[in-house]
Amino acid sequence: MYFKQFLDEHCGCASYLIASRQSHDAAIVDPALAIDQYEPILEERAFRLRYLIDTHVHADHVSGARALAARHGAEVCLHESAAVRYPFRPLRDGEELPLGQLRLRVLHTPGHRPELISILIINPPRSPEPSMVLTGDSLLVGDVGRPDFGGGDPEAQFDSVQRLLGLPDWVAVFPGHFEGPCGKGMCGRPSTTIGFERRFSPMLVLAKDAFVSALTNGVPARPLNMTAIEATNRGTADLPWAMLTSAPHVEAVGIEALPLRDPETLLLDVREPDEYLHGHVPGAVNLPQADLASRLHELPRDRRLLLICEYGMRSLRAAQFLRQMGYERVATVAGGTAAWRAAGRPLTTGELPLKPPQIMETRWSHAGAASH
Ligand SMILES: [Fe+2]
Repeated sequence: MYFKQFLDEHCGCASYLIASRQSHDAAIVDPALAIDQYEPILEERAFRLRYLIDTHVHADHVSGARALAARHGAEVCLHESAAVRYPFRPLRDGEELPLGQLRLRVLHTPGHRPELISILIINPPRSPEPSMVLTGDSLLVGDVGRPDFGGGDPEAQFDSVQRLLGLPDWVAVFPGHFEGPCGKGMCGRPSTTIGFERRFSPMLVLAKDAFVSALTNGVPARPLNMTAIEATNRGTADLPWAMLTSAPHVEAVGIEALPLRDPETLLLDVREPDEYLHGHVPGAVNLPQADLASRLHELPRDRRLLLICEYGMRSLRAAQFLRQMGYERVATVAGGTAAWRAAGRPLTTGELPLKPPQIMETRWSHAGAASH
């Protein structure tokens, strides 16, 4: 067999090329939008691409599955329950896709999303038992996928992960993410084993009730441009430019600059609405980072844009995206609303009495991981 993991440093995503060296049949699981990265291997090894499998409808990166399928005459495969507006091969739990002598066995493991599947890789000439499992955003390294992306279910996630833990200890686990906003405690390693996670994952030692509350208390903010990215992956929009693919320099200003700002400057709070209503810098306008690309037309190009969030990480990424989209006069507020609050400055709050928002901000030094 042939197996290669591709890691995307911008979004913390992993994709996988699996092939039979005997038959030359190949599959890619969770293909990135940068599809040219797979071509040299396909060409040099004369692999024939048969399947593009998305483990689920992604919310944080645009899938390259349809583009690769069109280029290679291959099939786009998703779980049969996937709600997308384009033709695909519907996969059922327990079904096996043949890849030369290899077998790709589908396990329905909902929780992060209802349609999420894991793929067991079996190589019968070597062993009747699986040696690897691609888990999408169900079982991650040191973590599990968050359940709040629409249709997610923390109890289903518990059951799915328990099902995966029923696999033999030796099975190597290759997740859909090694960093990024789809989990909040990923360790950063790109792979693990069932046995190691069963023994040492902080989530997997919890009973169901504790697991559910650990998953639902303090979720990371929805990813940058999630609305546009998810709609693109569902086939209801075509906004592949909504991915942040560069890291342009962005000017950073301190909170002391806020009271002195020019009246034509637009102060944009990119946190979630709950966080904004709970207290924001006076005059700030709310546009959550998840909706930035889908509401880009609301942002004037002739005014200076000052972006603020809770600690400064989301606003930096959002500002980088605006720079990528050609906005020239963009800056980020270092330290964010937390620094403003800590300095004893006044906050404007919403009208509703709200409990403190349960949002965690990811530190995006790379794709994420460490959090508050
Ligand atoms: Fe995901």
